Amino acid sequence: MLVTNNEVLVPAMKNGYAVGAFNISNLESLQAIVEAALEERSPLIIAATPSTIKYAGLDNIVLLVRNAAKRLPLPASLHLDHGKDLETVKKCVDAGFTSVMIDGSHLKFEENVAITRKAVEIAHEKGVSVEAELGRLAGIEETAVEEREAFLTDPEAARRFVEETGVDALAVAIGTSHGAYKFKGEPKLDFERLKAIRRNLDIPLVLHGASSVPQHIIEKATRYGAKLKGAKGIPEEHIKKAISLGISKINIDTDLRLAFTAAVRETLTVSPEIFDPRKILGPARQAMKEVVKSKMRLFGSSNKA
Ligand code: G3H
Ligand code: 13P
Ligand code: ZN
Repeated sequence: MLVTNNEVLVPAMKNGYAVGAFNISNLESLQAIVEAALEERSPLIIAATPSTIKYAGLDNIVLLVRNAAKRLPLPASLHLDHGKDLETVKKCVDAGFTSVMIDGSHLKFEENVAITRKAVEIAHEKGVSVEAELGRLAGIEETAVEEREAFLTDPEAARRFVEETGVDALAVAIGTSHGAYKFKGEPKLDFERLKAIRRNLDIPLVLHGASSVPQHIIEKATRYGAKLKGAKGIPEEHIKKAISLGISKINIDTDLRLAFTAAVRETLTVSPEIFDPRKILGPARQAMKEVVKSKMRLFGSSNKA
């Protein structure tokens, strides 16, 4: 059934596990995520960014997700990831999304508060949950303390932000970043900051940029010609620690893209005679499903639906 993010995240926050928000980019990624949730009996957040909406079409996404959710015997939400403006938020709310993110993290504090408050007004009127972001995602290795303070989430500002906006969930910056190249040296997150933010807030906290960039997938992709030198993600132990310190929603996109690419490259290299899209995308779907299942186990959401 289709539910809001609040309905999957509040139980996660209370019971100390996290729910994965998996980004879809095509039919196969949606199928991979849904099948993984069914097999793991896990609650689910299906995330679409504005660029995915542009690529796949808003109506197509809503129809496909609604159709899948109708038959799902577990709570699943359809979430706008990194909505940058109120027009996109409104379109998604009107089209049937059950959760939206308004990402004002690049704005000044007061501007971020203002746009988030408006997004909350638009979404709450239709019973839709809202996530916002405070602080900017960037690695913290090799940065001076003063520099870090400028872009990581300030715990006191987070308290004020939530009070002033009425937002349902907050994405925090503690050293993660989007993509496949998160660290040059040792992976490092600011767990003390996360503890302080958790103490100041009583809503679910969100970790973006949380892919682990599994080395076995990088090796497979590289074996079949990919160029991914230096790719590095968040170690699984760091993810577990972040959950134990109060993260309830974890966003994963890069690991799905990597699994997809490695599988497509393998198929095309090993079976160069193949030209049926289903034979190329089928193994890629299976590879993404395996990634999602392993995340659900890592996050502790398996058997929670
Ligand atoms: O943060 C979200 C994605 O990893 C980037 O998504 O390429 O669909 O905009 P996009
Ligand atoms: P990754 O790039 O680490 O998968 O992060 C995805 C994300 O934060 C989507 O919002
Ligand atoms: Zn993100």
